[in-house]
This record gives sequence, C-alpha cells and structure tokens, in this order.
Amino acid sequence: MNILLFGPPGAGKGTQSALLIKKKAMRQISTGDLFRAAIKGGTPLGLEAKSYINEGKLVPDSVTIGMVREELSKHRGPFILDGFPRNVAQAEALEVLLNELKISVDRAIFLEVPNAYLLGRLTGRRVCKTCGATYHIEAKPPKAKGVCDVCGGPVIQRDDDKEEVIKTRLEAYEESTKPLKDYYQVKGQLVTVDGTGSTEDVFGRIDRVLRS
Ligand code: AP5
Repeated sequence: MNILLFGPPGAGKGTQSALLIKKKAMRQISTGDLFRAAIKGGTPLGLEAKSYINEGKLVPDSVTIGMVREELSKHRGPFILDGFPRNVAQAEALEVLLNELKISVDRAIFLEVPNAYLLGRLTGRRVCKTCGATYHIEAKPPKAKGVCDVCGGPVIQRDDDKEEVIKTRLEAYEESTKPLKDYYQVKGQLVTVDGTGSTEDVFGRIDRVLRS
C-alpha cells in the first residue's frame, strides 16, 4: 500500500514514518528531509530552499514538484509520501505524476493533532545533526544530553523550530495544507487518524488503517 501522510507541523509525520519503515518495510519520501539533505550538501536546490524553510514558508511548487518527480521515478515497493503534497496545486501535480508512472496512492492519512499540542512538540523537538534521528526534550530525550542514541552525533534544534518561525509554518499549514482534507475527502481517499497519545498508540491506529 502506498500512502500520503499529511497534517500540521509537529503532528508526528516523521515519527510515524520512522515506525512504518521499521515495522512495515515501507520507504519514506519526505520533502522536508530531502530539502534538509540538499541544504547540508550545499547544492543549488538546497541554497534555493534554505531561505524559504528558515522563514517557515513553503518552497515554490516549481522546485518541489520536480524534486518529488525524481524521487518517485526511483520508486520501488510501498512508500509513504511525508510532507507532499502540501497544497492543492501540488496534489494536482501529484495525480499527473502518478498516472505517468502508473503508481497509485491508496490512502491519504491526515494526522490530526490539536493546535494546543503542536507548539510544545515543535519547540521541544531536537534532531541529530548527523543522522536526522528525532528526539523531544520531555517525551523522548536522548540517553546522554545532546548526543544521538543512534550514531553519537550532536543533537540540535532545527532552525525552523524557533517560536517565531513556527508561527509562520502554522499559518502556511492553515492556508495551504489544511484544504487538502477536503480535496482527498472528495476523492474518497481521506482517512483521519487521531495523532494524540503515545507514538505507539498512534502507530496502532495507522496500522489498523493499513490493514483495513
Ligand atoms: P517538514 O520537515 O516536512 O516539516 P513539517 O511538515 O512542518 O513537519 P515536521 O517535520 O515539523 O513535523 P512532523 O509532523 O514530522 O513531526 P515529528 O514526527 O518530527 O518541512 C520543513 C519545511 O520544508 C517546510 O516548512 C517547508 O518550508 C519545506 N517543505 C517541505 N515540504 C514541502 C512541500 N511539499 N512544499 C513546499 N515546501 C515544503 O514530531 C515532532 C515532535 O513531536 C518530535 O520531537 C517528536 O518526538 C514529538 N512527537 C511525535 N509524536 C508524538 C506523540 N505521539 N506524543 C508526544 N510527542 C510526539
């Protein structure tokens, strides 16, 4: 099964994708991760994306859609699209792309988390600078402060997890991404999953959707 995972910033898309990779052998295509890798590598794509990301704005569709096209054409086996599409124009472009590649998406899973949780999740998030593993200062701290459990790399705060940037990201979500709920509802592909509770609880709910 191929799925789209979408929801507000901090809903747990990356956390749930990591569990799906581990437990279901799915492949994750995360536009956020692809942009961060490009920024780290200092590529032209990274240079272009960086200013948008650090301001909490969406990277232009012309850049993002091309990047996803390249990733999807390498498609092998079931995948999770995490963070794409992020607006209706991207959703329409995705449909064209999937038709061209003769791939289908089976479910559009909306991870629903009330705003009251999101700020705490995002300001408390820490990530490994080397391998990208995700932590939270309260819910999931690394065993040794500032050191990644997985690879021993430095654990840092993402530049776009500063409070002033989060505000812009949440606005971009409300304006551009939330309308995708209606888009996928009309298509009969929308499944809303409660993203609150423990990460294992949320995973259990997603697993039930995949089995249904
Ligand atoms: P991206 O990296 O995709 O950011 P996002 O969508 O804002 O999502 P996040 O990564 O912030 O959150 P998440 O839902 O993955 O939550 P996580 O699992 O980490 O994109 C970054 C930027 O790139 C965008 O702002 C934009 O500029 C650009 N971009 C990306 N895609 C684009 C596109 N398609 N078009 C244009 N621009 C694009 O969890 C968050 C925290 O909560 C963690 O600390 C975690 O440990 C904790 N947590 C998770 N689950 C739980 C739980 N159940 N209980 C308690 N804590 C939890």
